[in-house]
Amino acid sequence: MPNPEIPKLEEYSLKALDHFFQTIQACFSQEATQAHTPEAIEELRIRWVGRKQGLLKTIGESCLKTAPADAKKAIGQRFNALKEQIEQALETGSGSAPTASPADSIDITLPGTRPGTGAEHPLIRTLHEVVGIFERMGYSVGVGPEVETDYYNFESLNFPPNHPARDTQDTLVVAGQQGKPLRERLLMRTHTSPVQIRTMEQQPPPLRIVIPGKVHRNDAADATHSPIFHQVEGLCVDTNITFSDLKGTLDHAMKELFGSSVKTRFFPSFFPFTEPSADVQISCIFCGGKGCRKCKHSGWIELLGCGMVDPAVFGFVRERQPAYDPKKISGFAFGMGIDRIAMMRYGIGDIGLLYSGDVRFLEQFA
Ligand code: DAH
Repeated sequence: MPNPEIPKLEEYSLKALDHFFQTIQACFSQEATQAHTPEAIEELRIRWVGRKQGLLKTIGESCLKTAPADAKKAIGQRFNALKEQIEQALETGSGSAPTASPADSIDITLPGTRPGTGAEHPLIRTLHEVVGIFERMGYSVGVGPEVETDYYNFESLNFPPNHPARDTQDTLVVAGQQGKPLRERLLMRTHTSPVQIRTMEQQPPPLRIVIPGKVHRNDAADATHSPIFHQVEGLCVDTNITFSDLKGTLDHAMKELFGSSVKTRFFPSFFPFTEPSADVQISCIFCGGKGCRKCKHSGWIELLGCGMVDPAVFGFVRERQPAYDPKKISGFAFGMGIDRIAMMRYGIGDIGLLYSGDVRFLEQFA
């Protein structure tokens, strides 16, 4: 047992008294932390509160004896408090030392607490599956900002200011931007296509990239619409890229995603940044093309937009990256909504469920 350095009381200011008793308390606590067994605790008890030679007795006597009369009350109060603390600590089993060893208090035969295993959200899982299909075809993966400028979201994709094609994407704009030139004004991106431009500005051709991400539109929420949804964008630029490459790539991707018996067909469409443009339809995965309620009895389901990159788009990119010369290179692009694909794959009837955070819904995918 270490010999505590009990200080001598030489001054009787309240501050000195507090310090004196605190030091003694600290000595006791320090010894108490060493006393782990009942024997050690008993030894500690005799040493501190033993009737004949206990440290407390000695301390009490020595400081009260020499103290001036007007300090005796303050000393007495502090001494009693200390004594009470020490006695209490000894009673509950030596101050801060544990009373029982962990082996006594933990029943190792009880079943353990199993941590809940997390699972990928059905939307994110679908996103990863689509991205994975293109990664296996040699595509890299990119990302871009969700708060975008008018230039990247529209102008550089060949949507001129006031062009009616802008109306097809109900845009949520950031407030207080009127002071800026139109192209610098901020908005929530309405599609992932702006990342096509951002990527080409950073990287000369050849380029093969997919861009998954969140997009925003001012659509009223219902069973099939949500103001936030997800897209995967694709872009491939090289010498001699043709519409056949586009068809072959997307046909393969759809077969990977929905099974090899799925057929694709390409319908003429319009997007300002592709020429020619097409909508891709797949044979109905619910009825195999015979016609059912899900495909509105047409046998086909429209799934994504695509086309050959419009030379005007390369024109915007060339200001920063001259290698995008439409006379030398060509490319295709595509964009698909992931929410609808996830809903089809998992039989989800309401898009809102994907954003509800309802554990009862999500648990089904664990
Ligand atoms: N950005 C279009 C949309 O959100 C989808 C799209 C269509 C993307 C054709 C493309 C494309 O890259 O080539 O409606």
